[in-house]
Amino acid sequence: MKRFVKALLESPSAAASLALFTREIWANPRAMGAACPSAPALASRMAARVPLDREGLVVELGGGTGAVTAALLKRGIPAWKLAVIERSPTLAHHLRQRFPQLRIIQGDAAQLEHLLGHDRSRGVGSIVSSLPLRSLHPTVTRAISCQFETLLEPGGLLIQYTYDLRGTQPRLLPYFRRLSSRIVWGNLPPARVEVFERI
Ligand SMILES: C[S@@+](CC[C@H](N)C(=O)[O-])C[C@H]1O[C@@H](n2cnc3c(N)ncnc32)[C@H](O)[C@@H]1O
Repeated sequence: MKRFVKALLESPSAAASLALFTREIWANPRAMGAACPSAPALASRMAARVPLDREGLVVELGGGTGAVTAALLKRGIPAWKLAVIERSPTLAHHLRQRFPQLRIIQGDAAQLEHLLGHDRSRGVGSIVSSLPLRSLHPTVTRAISCQFETLLEPGGLLIQYTYDLRGTQPRLLPYFRRLSSRIVWGNLPPARVEVFERI
């Protein structure tokens, strides 16, 4: 945690990400659902759970300032396999500048199937979500959960983090079973990374 705060204060790009993130929180606190961008420890934990040998796209939801996106690339997910969805036009613009090699789609994850368009035919192997499912409006959360059910075949993975250290409420993801769950203490605040499998 100390290392994360030190990096934020010392690196100009991390400080710029924090400033952008903070502006977005003022504009839309419920959609951001967090006080800070994900720390490297959280981002790399999320990325580490994505299988490299699985067919189909890796779809990242709620790319924000790109902390998890960078970790996914570092993990070895090829750029052509990765699609990033971000609802905020400002953050989507930031992501396009930071990752010109990636497909960054500005839009609402509640319409994920539509946003993926032709890419949908490639299938979705894993979804990596930083969406604040707890703080979004319940109808939006339900619509997003329906998209998870539609796009992932049985066996497909959903990797999600939550600041509720008790874990995601099972009623939010009725067609998934939890495979693993672990707290990352080196995030501000600590977060629980959960891996769910579509049943
Ligand atoms: C907790 S923040 C993401 C943090 C990101 N991993 C980072 O470190 O910068 C949640 C992100 O989800 C985005 N978001 C919220 N609701 C969304 C929705 N319905 N569809 C797509 N993105 C959404 C927000 O704009 C925000 O960027």
